[in-house]
Amino acid sequence: MRHFLKSAGIIFLLTSSTVFAQNKVTLSGDLGKHTINRHIYGHFAEHLGKCIYGGFYVGENNTKIPNKDGVRMDVVEALKKMKIPNLRWPGGCFADTYQWKDGIGPKANRPKIVNVWWGNVTEDNSFGTHDFLNMCELIGTEPYLAGNVGSGTVKDLSDWVQYVNFKGVSPMSDLRAKNGRENPWKVRYWGVGNEAWGCGGNMKPDYYANIYRQYATFMNASFENNERLFRIASGASDNDYNWTETLMREIPHNMLEGIAMHHYSVIDWKHKGPSTTFTEELYFKTMKEALLMDELVKRHSTIMDKYDPAKKVALVVDEWGGWYDVEPGTNPGFLFQQNTMRDAVLAGATLNIFHKYCERVRMANLAQVVNVLQSVILTNEEKMILTPTYHVLEMYNVHQDATMLPVEVQSNDYTFGNEKLPAISVSASRDKNGAVHVSLVNIDPNKAQDITINVTGVNASGVTGRILTSGKVQDYNTFENPGKIQPAVFGGASLKNNVLTVKLPPVSVVVLELK
Ligand code: AHR
Repeated sequence: MRHFLKSAGIIFLLTSSTVFAQNKVTLSGDLGKHTINRHIYGHFAEHLGKCIYGGFYVGENNTKIPNKDGVRMDVVEALKKMKIPNLRWPGGCFADTYQWKDGIGPKANRPKIVNVWWGNVTEDNSFGTHDFLNMCELIGTEPYLAGNVGSGTVKDLSDWVQYVNFKGVSPMSDLRAKNGRENPWKVRYWGVGNEAWGCGGNMKPDYYANIYRQYATFMNASFENNERLFRIASGASDNDYNWTETLMREIPHNMLEGIAMHHYSVIDWKHKGPSTTFTEELYFKTMKEALLMDELVKRHSTIMDKYDPAKKVALVVDEWGGWYDVEPGTNPGFLFQQNTMRDAVLAGATLNIFHKYCERVRMANLAQVVNVLQSVILTNEEKMILTPTYHVLEMYNVHQDATMLPVEVQSNDYTFGNEKLPAISVSASRDKNGAVHVSLVNIDPNKAQDITINVTGVNASGVTGRILTSGKVQDYNTFENPGKIQPAVFGGASLKNNVLTVKLPPVSVVVLELK
């Protein structure tokens, strides 16, 4: 009897701990109110390393790599498939050194300058305003131009607005026509400087707020059909809440459409760690930094709510992603890094956070699109590969402009040493055709996760899905083996009586469709 009681006790303990450790999610299909703005799926192209030259642009005379006006077509096609909604250019830190008039007119006459932020290399200005905006048309994406506030003038920036947007007779539109473009491009998104607290001029927030007001005043006169520009103030770094507070207080909201915020998942700026040969400790730390995005977005949003309860001003996370040591033997100023399953998990979890706060976060830009930091594409001469991050953004694009459906998540812990993180990350939305999509990430590199999702307000009888995973979190695609990591059909989910059960392998990203 004593023996029986002892075993019963063990069984009870095992059962209760199993139940306690069960991931549980509730998905409220009837409570969707806010749209996931497609612009949170934006990207960033900077004159940095091989992002522009070699990444996007290989020159008009290149006969080895198929191109249109020098822009490589393999990259264009890949970005179209991923559904890239906007592209930020020309920086970054480069933006506050960029004189846009250097990049127009006959290429042979364009001045050669030094790219002082990124390796002191020669920038020959062969890729300029026309090249970028025509490329955006080719890709079918909206341009987001970052203006030079740090070393430019109010007139330079208002001239740029007029050059690209004004249809009537004016010195700048005449110059544009002379340079081969009769009709304006109609650029809506404009950054008023970049990282004004740092490489954009080392300004204090009050000073920048005044400068912003001055620049923004002269940036709105020239748009077509009284359409308003979407002006984005250079925003806080990470948890600099005072920066956001000062801007929200000091800038009239009728001259401010968005405030930026930058957060990179860096474990230590001096020792960032390798991009592929990282330990589990480094992985854990990177994910901790990535998940910090939730708190950052929440607290910046709370400050914005105080001054703007109607949420008219958007929070624009226009630089985010993982940042590691450059690949051995590459130029340290080029920020070239490989991209593993760690990056895929980081991207999935971050996008789930943006979905959660989609009422305020209405635009974001992953840094950076090709060959720099957390890239979706890597190129090497005529070769091009898609990274695990690319596949996550492509899988997730079903959420673009869909209605966010609230989820409540009770997660198992992923523990490392004495620390823990939630093992799973989840978000959901309903698209315009009524299909419900659920995105799930298993951050834990060691354990599969069983998840039970109670679904209300969704009339669906079946579930299909796609998964991105690999044997090790350090795995990545190479030019020799470009298809090692790619989405596959997912058979680990079932739907019965409004209960969705899912089994996620370690380090995996899954997108389900309920129909
Ligand atoms: O993305 C690389 C750099 O990081 C950008 O140029 C700058 O804005 C940020 O500090």
